Amino acid sequence: MSTPLYLPPVPQLGRIDIHSHLLPRIDDGCEDVNQCIDCIRQLKEAGYTGSICTPHIIPNMFPDNTRENIIRWVENLRIELVNRNIEYTLWPGGEINLQENMPDWLTEHGVPTLAGSNCVLMDHWADIWPDWFPTVIQWFLDQGYQPILAHPERMRCCWDQPDGLDQLLDMGVWLQGNFLPITGEEGYEPDQLSRRYIENQKYKLMAMDMHKPQSIPSRFDGMKIVLTEYGNQLLDHFTVDAPRQLILSHLL
Ligand SMILES: [Fe+2]
Repeated sequence: MSTPLYLPPVPQLGRIDIHSHLLPRIDDGCEDVNQCIDCIRQLKEAGYTGSICTPHIIPNMFPDNTRENIIRWVENLRIELVNRNIEYTLWPGGEINLQENMPDWLTEHGVPTLAGSNCVLMDHWADIWPDWFPTVIQWFLDQGYQPILAHPERMRCCWDQPDGLDQLLDMGVWLQGNFLPITGEEGYEPDQLSRRYIENQKYKLMAMDMHKPQSIPSRFDGMKIVLTEYGNQLLDHFTVDAPRQLILSHLL
């Protein structure tokens, strides 16, 4: 029997992370529930009150990561939190690794949108933009979904071929930046591109993309850099206001 999609109320206060690998034993994120609890403790200390769980959707690596299973796994983690008296809001989602045949797979297995909205988080790793990329993006748009490309600053094709990203922006794609690259830990280009995208107002949101507990402190360092260099108002826009707008204004 399928688990119904439950959408909890959006917390009145606090940051919301729209990109996380929080679910235990699902992908390269948390390895067990204790790691999840550790991550949530750290996130709460930084003012987060909720996360959208976005496991990798890569069918040949994680064939069980379907929309329906993710909804069930999020419900299981919610029960764990209730049993431990931990107040933290969780929603289901997914990080769809774009491939040419992904529309066929999603048609068969369902589209794991973010928190019941029409927004779809996606990533891709390419040195050069594939020819099929705009066609697959257009498939999402034609189906009524809002594509959000995760961490473009980490994609080599964005470093070398910025026109390809501009084409996607012209099509209506939103961009989600990660907090880690601006620390410089992922190299010169991601750091520089993060700053350029922030200054040119290309990011719709910024997110943690946290994996395991030990991955979180350096991402908080990135948040602090955004706070120090660009101000509290922009940081709150990325982590407080924009995620709420995404969840509340784009419900399917
Ligand atoms: Fe991710």
